Amino acid sequence: MAIRYICLQDFEELSALNEQSAEMLAQWLPGAPILTYEHFESYLTRFDGPANEGFVICLRDTDAIVGRVNVNNIIRGTHQSATIGYSAYASTTGRGYLTEGLELLVGHAFGDMRLHRLEANIQPSNSASLSLIKRVGFQREGFSPNFQFIAGAWRDHERWAITVEMT
Ligand SMILES: CC(C)(COP(=O)(O)OP(=O)(O)OC[C@H]1O[C@@H](n2cnc3c(N)ncnc32)[C@H](O)[C@@H]1OP(=O)(O)O)[C@@H](O)C(=O)NCCC(=O)NCCS
Repeated sequence: MAIRYICLQDFEELSALNEQSAEMLAQWLPGAPILTYEHFESYLTRFDGPANEGFVICLRDTDAIVGRVNVNNIIRGTHQSATIGYSAYASTTGRGYLTEGLELLVGHAFGDMRLHRLEANIQPSNSASLSLIKRVGFQREGFSPNFQFIAGAWRDHERWAITVEMT
């Protein structure tokens, strides 16, 4: 497994994965799936500045994309923290790919990116995501009512985090 920065050349592969996974993603992730080149191009501009980084998780032998992870809201100074968002796809879920991908991401975040804390916010009914984040070593910090607007309503989330000291 490998992680690398997301780029414009990923459009066709990601739009096909998004299309096959629309139902699976809509319940848990904000925003419409990226299906047009123009939408993807404008989506990628969010990674131009220092506050957000976007990665794809790939199989090392074929380079096929099996998942995505964004490192959002990067705060420097005395925080060195960020919030992650991630997904697998209908044809790639349930195989351990995201566990390995997120482990690589945590290593990169605490290594080259010089971050100290990563946070993940997960709906209490998203059992696949809760199992994943536990496996990767995050700990539950608390509960945030009405945290994010997803699929037409303000959704409660659990707040999970990992710091360098926990690795
Ligand atoms: C959340 C999400 C990323 C979890 O993905 P996932 O596929 O369960 O995670 P992994 O790739 O690490 O796979 C782990 C699962 O594969 C199983 N598995 C099968 N073969 C495996 C293998 N060879 N190695 C490791 N695990 C394997 C594991 O048992 C585990 O299933 P379990 O949790 O039922 O025990 C995925 O469900 C998803 O994309 N959901 C929609 C978007 C979303 O919710 N994003 C997060 C918002 S907070």
